[in-house]
Amino acid sequence: MSKPYVLVLYYSRHGATRTMAKHIARGIEQSGIEARLRTVPSISTTCEAVEPAIPEEGSLYCTEQDLSNCSGLALGSPTRFGNMAAPLKYFIDGTSAQWLSGTLINKPACVFSSSSSLHGGQETTLLSMMIPLLHHGMVIAGLPYSETALLDTTTGGTPYGATHVAGQNNRALDEIELSLCLAQGKRLGELASKLS
Ligand SMILES: Cc1cc2nc3c(=O)[nH]c(=O)nc-3n(C[C@H](O)[C@H](O)[C@H](O)COP(=O)(O)O)c2cc1C
Repeated sequence: MSKPYVLVLYYSRHGATRTMAKHIARGIEQSGIEARLRTVPSISTTCEAVEPAIPEEGSLYCTEQDLSNCSGLALGSPTRFGNMAAPLKYFIDGTSAQWLSGTLINKPACVFSSSSSLHGGQETTLLSMMIPLLHHGMVIAGLPYSETALLDTTTGGTPYGATHVAGQNNRALDEIELSLCLAQGKRLGELASKLS
């Protein structure tokens, strides 16, 4: 039996969501519980195209055990047409076993996203990511307004979850976006420790 951990599961094509995932993982670890960073493979319309079993860079691919045994889950995706990216949805569509056995019931979860524009669908993306997690029986944790950065931000950061506005040129996370990623991770870690 491994030590309790919170799974930070994300897809990222250009690195912005991956950077957010790392800051959320830091926040989780600040709460005293381990964070496990995992990603999912890209998918393509070419049926023969396969990814190497171990990614060339970044986090390892998420296994069934990584998901089933977590104490909490932070789920991250780029905003794509106001929705989560297909590779993450494809992975989630493969989680029937977890749904049937109820391994995620009563575990806390949060969602996060990066988009290029401010009003380009971050919040709809976050909501779309919550839906399958609710089917899994997870307890969704957003960001409370006691995080006053939510009132000050002119870029990313929502009560539904941490976000980042990457712009056209992959802008770095600003201080507020970064602090909300940390806060989100810390809150999720604390909840995971209390609920497990
Ligand atoms: C197919 C596709 C659809 C996208 N849709 C949106 C969108 O609806 N709104 C938006 O603001 N940005 C959109 N983007 C931009 C990405 O959300 C943005 O570049 C994001 O920061 C990428 O995250 P990553 O660096 O983790 O891959 C889209 C990008 C692609 C490739």
